[in-house]
Amino acid sequence: MSRDFGSDFLWGAATAAYQIEGATTEGGRGASIWDTFSATPGKVLDGHTGAVAADHYHRMPADVALMRDLGLAAYRFSVAWPRIQPTGSGPALAAGLDFYSRLVDELLGAGIEPVLTLYHWDLPQALEDAGGWPARDTALRFGEYAALVVDALGDRVLRWTTLNEPWCSAFLGYASGVHAPGRTEPAGALAAAHHLNLAHGLAGRAVRDGLGDRGLLSLTLNLHVVRPASQAPGDLDAARRIDAVANRIFLEPVLDGTYPADLLADTAAVTDWSFVHDGDLEVTHTGLDVLGVNYYSSQEVRAARPGEPRSMDDGHGASTSSPWVGSPDVEFLPRSGPLTAMGWNIDPSGMTELLVGLHHRYPELPLMITENGAAFDDEVSPDGRVHDPRRIAYVHDHVAAVGDAMEAGADVRGYLLWSLMDNFEWAYGYHRRFGIIRIDYDTLERTWKDSAYWYRALISTGRLPSPTDPGVVPD
Ligand code: FCB
Repeated sequence: MSRDFGSDFLWGAATAAYQIEGATTEGGRGASIWDTFSATPGKVLDGHTGAVAADHYHRMPADVALMRDLGLAAYRFSVAWPRIQPTGSGPALAAGLDFYSRLVDELLGAGIEPVLTLYHWDLPQALEDAGGWPARDTALRFGEYAALVVDALGDRVLRWTTLNEPWCSAFLGYASGVHAPGRTEPAGALAAAHHLNLAHGLAGRAVRDGLGDRGLLSLTLNLHVVRPASQAPGDLDAARRIDAVANRIFLEPVLDGTYPADLLADTAAVTDWSFVHDGDLEVTHTGLDVLGVNYYSSQEVRAARPGEPRSMDDGHGASTSSPWVGSPDVEFLPRSGPLTAMGWNIDPSGMTELLVGLHHRYPELPLMITENGAAFDDEVSPDGRVHDPRRIAYVHDHVAAVGDAMEAGADVRGYLLWSLMDNFEWAYGYHRRFGIIRIDYDTLERTWKDSAYWYRALISTGRLPSPTDPGVVPD
């Protein structure tokens, strides 16, 4: 089967600042929570840090040339807040703005549309020291930071994403602590979630003020596809709870101007939500020109069985503190079937289900896949090539699943593959490879994997090649 996605469909790839840039002390950049966290023994596998990463900061023009050779129509990158404001407030650093301004110019010169994310997890450490996302002030500072970036790049960048995966920032950062800053404070995590929603709203105003109707405002969520293990009431309720604290906690304040009543009830023993001030939900209720969807895998949950050992294979790393605030009785079942190197199950039908579900809930809302891809333990063959058929199959099947959702009516505008190149995979350091371009971390050499050639063929035709098409990968 060869599906045609049409000429307007935006094909691209994604990265994030801390994961690829390196040069963490250059250009006056301040420290972020990930610099501090990765330098703390035991937090990141083998003590890896983003100090060098893929050295993109120094190799940016060559990397953009590579994107052009791949035929990308769009490139999603993030701006490192501490490059713009080293301590999270005050005037913008010229060197920081200049780096992103040059990146944007290179992209436009190569015919590639920039898709800018303002926050992909690098909070200035000084703001964490002042309370971090559980503190309201951080949201206000984010609005100011957004205005500085809009002011500098809004003449050339039209696609603005405020936050990447605020669920991870709030609940992995402040509840389970497997991500920076590594705190384990359930009430603080809920306050962080609200302040991230508020930050989205304030940054959204900056985008609308700066660009008016020219701008496309977006928010990227890692929406969880949570299936109940059975139709028993307890299992259905487990799925409802996780949907509330993973998905609706962000969707509803932004798209409906409310918090879900069931979420407030589920978490009443943890917090009284008094951090939500009068008028906040008017600020968060920005609407969106396009919702960014990150999807990798699905999950199965059930009500924990009293007296039985409880599995918590939620795919977000081991911690004695749960990210699932207000859901102590929910169990995540072990994953089955083929797994990626992250231990995540491969479930393209979850992608279709997610997109069709969003379309039914918000029929007018355009959608964009802002991340999808897979980590596998790639090896360099004696011929110097990286043959990664499992990644090709994964991307093929998920793009097909996007096509299925479009046939069912979902308004999907594009697909941005995670990731353009291997990079620093957070708590797993350089031990997980998501790129279609391989990075040799000794030499920093870039090598096209077979998946890169395959993706180039997909982009150039707008049709889905077979995962084993012999004509796609050159000899
Ligand atoms: C997402 C992150 C991204 C990358 C992928 C694998 O949660 O947004 O930075 O790490 O997972």
